[in-house]
Amino acid sequence: MYRTHTCGELRLADAGKEVTLAGWVQRVRDKGALVWIDLRDRYGITQLLLDEKSDPKLVEQARTFGREYVIQAKGIVIERESKNAKVPTGDIELRVEQFTLLNSSKTPPFTIEDVSDGGDDLRMKYRYLDIRRNPVRQNLELRHRMAMLVRNYLSGLGFLEIETPMLIKSTPEGARDFVVPSRMNPGEFYALPQSPQQYKQLLMVAGMDRYFQIVRCFRDEDLRADRQPEFTQIDCEMSFVEQEDVLNTFEGLAKHLFKEMKGLEFDQFPRMTWQDAMKYYGSDKPDIRFGMKFVELNDVVKGKGFGLFDNAELVVGICAEGCSEYTRKQLDALTEFVKRPQVGAGGLVYIKYNVDGTFKSSVDKFYTAEDLKVVASAFGAKPGDLMLVLCGEAMKTRVQLNALRLEMGNQLGLRNPDVYAPLWVIDFPLLEWDEETQRYYAMHHPFTAPKPEDEALLDDPSKWGEIRANAYDIVMNGVEVGGGSIRIHDRTLQNKMFHTLGFTDEKAQEQFGFLMGAFEYGAPPHAGLAFGFDRLCSLFGGADSIRDFIAFPKNNAGRDVMSGSPAPIAQEQLDELQIALNLK
Ligand code: AMO
Repeated sequence: MYRTHTCGELRLADAGKEVTLAGWVQRVRDKGALVWIDLRDRYGITQLLLDEKSDPKLVEQARTFGREYVIQAKGIVIERESKNAKVPTGDIELRVEQFTLLNSSKTPPFTIEDVSDGGDDLRMKYRYLDIRRNPVRQNLELRHRMAMLVRNYLSGLGFLEIETPMLIKSTPEGARDFVVPSRMNPGEFYALPQSPQQYKQLLMVAGMDRYFQIVRCFRDEDLRADRQPEFTQIDCEMSFVEQEDVLNTFEGLAKHLFKEMKGLEFDQFPRMTWQDAMKYYGSDKPDIRFGMKFVELNDVVKGKGFGLFDNAELVVGICAEGCSEYTRKQLDALTEFVKRPQVGAGGLVYIKYNVDGTFKSSVDKFYTAEDLKVVASAFGAKPGDLMLVLCGEAMKTRVQLNALRLEMGNQLGLRNPDVYAPLWVIDFPLLEWDEETQRYYAMHHPFTAPKPEDEALLDDPSKWGEIRANAYDIVMNGVEVGGGSIRIHDRTLQNKMFHTLGFTDEKAQEQFGFLMGAFEYGAPPHAGLAFGFDRLCSLFGGADSIRDFIAFPKNNAGRDVMSGSPAPIAQEQLDELQIALNLK
């Protein structure tokens, strides 16, 4: 037997027991007569004690152990003289009677402790060492617990977990596919799934009724903190349901996770239409942990001779409570912030509602105190507040103001990661116009159903931008953690939709023929949703980056620096696949 106990297990009640532990040497402290070793495994750290006087040979052996050596230690549990309340095993130590060296180790490239001296790149390169550190290990444990809760909850509701293929047919909608060449079919390629969307719909046609899968998805898109080229979804689909059933089912799952993981209970999650989300927050994933809702000012600021406002499609602002004492320097920094290319505003107008009731603004030339009072009342501002205003093309300005609102939320400490504010955003537009290709794209995907009351608008191309979809996202703290929709199950409507998206019949047949064919054999009404599992984990773990919750993630350039992929393949492999490279 390699061990009788783990390194996180022993307590004062175990004093006097003879035990065997196995693990990694985190640290050796050599005080001459006494030597201590911190022995670590997945479960914790136990201190080992060696006494030069009683056993000089053992001490000699211990002095040969370097960091990360794998050892086995047999001995007696004793009460510590100076206890350490910070670790669960801090009341005891193990008086070693026998050591076995199980393996030696090179000196690790960074310290394997909670706070490491290793930079990001180094820790990514040696990810297997990074995972030995508590914070990373705990993230993976959290992920495991979440996955178990999801499986048990959904299984309890009658959902079946069914695996769908990883080598599928490429579909041009959505993000770029990762493709895989087929040796047996030269010149032909599989794609890795961006999601199991079509397969889960086929499972509904197949009568499986309630499906879920914790499934890997692949998207060749630009990476950010919350995006990885391969990521995991909790993918779900249900038959014979309406939007209300879907929202309630998955709100139930989210609540279950909050309760089990965080001990938090929620009333019904609030719902907001996409229109309102854009109008009041400039984002389809508003962070509603704090207020600062947008206030539109066209009616109160136009016509006073300030050209910038007069000519703008939209003048819109936020009110930062209690910030009227912001200094010149702070206001300049905010102006710089909105002018950064990532935000792209031309400038920022501020109006201070001073504590003494007077106003000070960057547009004093054009607006009297009386005018500014009217603006302040539009904001519902009180003395001591600061109003920040942007103007320009409506949608662009809203998006810019969203960036400023989030920045102010950060500056004012209003985005506490321990506070959770879930939200449904509903009634997304069905179609999205793309300037570059001059055509409409499905905002969610081409199988999403329009709201029945908007269906007739499909016959009028001038109205396509106004059609609302039966599509919804679940948002938490400004992060889109999931999304889904009611699907089109009617062949005629689906054809109309393809037509709207600019597909010819042949093209639709070529791309989606197998799904369309299936729909002719009795497709039930169905709907679904997919959570981004990595995002859900990072949110529950209170972190911004999903990378920390993935055992072996890619870096921002999409590379696995540990294994060195992607990498060229051998000429023989290329020949076998009949692929000739044409690198530019
Ligand atoms: P969607 O494309 O909205 O919907 O994806 C669902 C959720 O997956 C997460 N997500 C990602 N997470 C990490 N890295 C990425 N690159 C990434 N891309 C998406 C997000 C998102 O909300 N088939 C539909 C779902 C449906 O209609 O049922 C789909 O894939 O949290």
